[in-house]
Amino acid sequence: MMTPDRIVGPTSPGSTAPGITLEPMTRDHLAAVLAIEAHALHRPWSLATFVRELAQENERTYLVARDGDAVVGFGGIMYVLDEGHITTISVTPERHGERIGTRLMVALLRAAIDKGMVSSSLEVRTGNDPAISMYRRFGYTPAGIRPNYYAEVGEDAVVMWAHDINTVAYSRRLQHIQDSLEEPNP
Ligand SMILES: CC(C)(COP(=O)(O)OP(=O)(O)OC[C@H]1O[C@@H](n2cnc3c(N)ncnc32)[C@H](O)[C@@H]1OP(=O)(O)O)[C@@H](O)C(=O)NCCC(=O)NCCS
Repeated sequence: MMTPDRIVGPTSPGSTAPGITLEPMTRDHLAAVLAIEAHALHRPWSLATFVRELAQENERTYLVARDGDAVVGFGGIMYVLDEGHITTISVTPERHGERIGTRLMVALLRAAIDKGMVSSSLEVRTGNDPAISMYRRFGYTPAGIRPNYYAEVGEDAVVMWAHDINTVAYSRRLQHIQDSLEEPNP
């Protein structure tokens, strides 16, 4: 079971970059989260959607990334049977490329493993190269296309899966990514 003290603090997964900490999302974060969400290219989530998601705390993990008091990113995962489905992940545009998304993914996947999940899935726009690159690093591979899934922007979704996230090999993969976060940004 994930607890806040596993993900907050200078030695916790995904939180060792100067200034960046991860913590569970609460209603207090939602104004800042919505400001980031407003940049979404398609179907930005409403306040009501976030509130509804946060209420399902046994079946969801939502995290925010903070730099000091500023929320700079967030992400979430939902648990269905043994599958952890990434529901959302976003970083404020001016902080893209600083590995904040990667930190969030490490923490979300560790939370999913703690919850007993065996695999993870997600949907992503076919043209979203940064996100697809990030997901591939986490072992997600394309499993299918949902045509016109993002109808507002006329784009298909790629469905991606990472299997066997409960294995030692996958834990090593996460640890390798975690370790790379301590290295200077290339
Ligand atoms: C996808 C997203 C969350 C990644 O967060 P981030 O903090 O910028 O990403 P990171 O710095 O951890 O880098 C992750 C990957 O994206 C790549 N990347 C980041 N910014 C990039 C950019 N502007 N152009 C190209 N690639 C980029 C990095 O090279 C990295 O690839 P790698 O893992 O192969 O090294 C962020 O780009 C974002 O918020 N996008 C808008 C919302 C979105 O598309 N969410 C995903 C919905 S499925």
